[in-house]
Amino acid sequence: MMERRNLVYVTRRERFNAAHKLWNANWTDEKNAEVFGKCANPNWHGHNYEVFVTVKGVPDKDTGYCVDLKQLSRLIENKVIQHLDHKNINLDVEFMQGKMASSEMLVIAIWDQLEMEIRALGVDLHAVKLYETENNIAEYFGE
Ligand code: NI
Repeated sequence: MMERRNLVYVTRRERFNAAHKLWNANWTDEKNAEVFGKCANPNWHGHNYEVFVTVKGVPDKDTGYCVDLKQLSRLIENKVIQHLDHKNINLDVEFMQGKMASSEMLVIAIWDQLEMEIRALGVDLHAVKLYETENNIAEYFGE
């Protein structure tokens, strides 16, 4: 029989509220309006974002945990949520400077904020899933 490692995927959800607009500064106002529609509203709009961070690891013999979710939550809070919550993603967020404020770009940036620090907790980052709305979701696996 094949020996199993008992690799388990564990997910923590966090939430933040933020404003943004989709706007390409290299384009005319007309082209931005044409491509992005309401999302290009010059005076911004907001979302109640939900981010799901999934890590993978083998449960510890003593705790039964892959990772202490309080520690993971604190890490996500410090590296991601504090930077985004009640902020303007286009203007206020250092790790989004020079990038489009789309869910796709945001989910990659969140991965980059977390990957190394999560490894230091003894597990590997597997996925970051970002709900911009309940219908619009971006997911990144570090590929
Ligand atoms: Ni939007």
